[in-house]
Amino acid sequence: MCRAVLLLVVFSLSCPAAEALDNGLALTPTMGWLHWERFMCNINCDKDPDNCISEKLYMQMADVMVKEGWKDAGYEYVCIDDCWPSHDRDAKGRLQADPRRFPGGIKKLADYVHSKGLKLGIYGDVGKNTCAGYPGSLGYYEVDAQTFADWGVDLLKFDGCYMNWTLLGEGYVNMSKALNKTGKSILYSCEWPLYEWPYQKPNYTAIRETCNHWRNYADVYDSWSSVKSISDWTASHQDIIVPVAGPGGWNDPDMLVIGNFGLSHDQQESQMALWAIMAAPLLMSNDLRNICPRSKKLLQNKLIIDISQDSLGKQGSLTGKFDSFEIWERPLSEKRLAAAVLNKQEIGGPRGFVIRAIPGWKMCDPKCNVTQILPEYKEMGVQTPKSNIVLSVNPSGTALLTITPLSSDFTEMYKLRWEDLSVKQKHATIL
Ligand code: GAL
Repeated sequence: MCRAVLLLVVFSLSCPAAEALDNGLALTPTMGWLHWERFMCNINCDKDPDNCISEKLYMQMADVMVKEGWKDAGYEYVCIDDCWPSHDRDAKGRLQADPRRFPGGIKKLADYVHSKGLKLGIYGDVGKNTCAGYPGSLGYYEVDAQTFADWGVDLLKFDGCYMNWTLLGEGYVNMSKALNKTGKSILYSCEWPLYEWPYQKPNYTAIRETCNHWRNYADVYDSWSSVKSISDWTASHQDIIVPVAGPGGWNDPDMLVIGNFGLSHDQQESQMALWAIMAAPLLMSNDLRNICPRSKKLLQNKLIIDISQDSLGKQGSLTGKFDSFEIWERPLSEKRLAAAVLNKQEIGGPRGFVIRAIPGWKMCDPKCNVTQILPEYKEMGVQTPKSNIVLSVNPSGTALLTITPLSSDFTEMYKLRWEDLSVKQKHATIL
């Protein structure tokens, strides 16, 4: 009896608070490319043939993903967002792709993407219309799920526009069931909580049972203020949303906008580090045909992707604020820890930040190994409780570290203890 209770306690400590959608997908956060933030609802293929929403765009992205190392880095899904369908369903009530922009149809596009060893994502809406006014799935969940399955689609992003909010949950659950009924594994990406928050606190247990990931907050824009507002929202709701994330179901803070126009390189590093710490889907929205080499290197950084895809499957959180520094930590497999030190001061130069491994810092008692991944790779070597680890962090940039305890009997994950040097030495900007 006692043993059973003990087992239960151990189990509940090591698992997310709810059961995941049982479709065997998204055991680690989804990786891929999604058209929305960069290409939006550009349907003018006469004027802008290279950037409009057409089959060519996804075929070219798939080509580049294979040729330029994206697939090898782990980016797998090529995802269509809004504005792909015709405004009218076919005679049998099925959705159909816009015939001018997708002359081959979605099945042919899926075959093409699959021939490259990649997967195809598509977009729909739980309500009467999509956000851009195309046909939604309300009243057609089973027909649409079957159509997507027949086409060989591998992921569905299901938006929540034009829906009575009291029916949102029911709609998302019914589409989840309809997808399951097709017998094809289709990763299910929801926006259920985003549309429910204005009215009530969403039921995250039900959401995790229904979806593989879910958007909680507003659309990402190509700007630092947008990325910051997403991380601020996440931090201020972390007690609710972090425990529910885990293999099979993840919080989705929206697309990576790295490689576009709005973020400085330091800000791009911050988005990448934060998204890895947050165990977020890594869905890039950029033009992979034309991306700056530095952004490409960042998006393909294996050590950051390893943090994102860590097998322990726990989402990290904000664990400390010192002056304008934020500390984010994510527990990793093998008792390791990822830590991000974000400098939110948007004036001045690089600022010093010291991690003092005081005796209370059990990870490094008696020893740990520290590696800096951002802003540049640096083996910081073996540290002890007496060490001072000195970081230099640019304005709106992030230092990203992994810490590996070297003590064989280390069993607990302790929070780091930090000391902000610049608070003490107010005018020291560079160490
Ligand atoms: C929004 C959604 C975006 C994008 C857009 C398409 O509501 O959050 O990610 O899909 O609709 O119209």
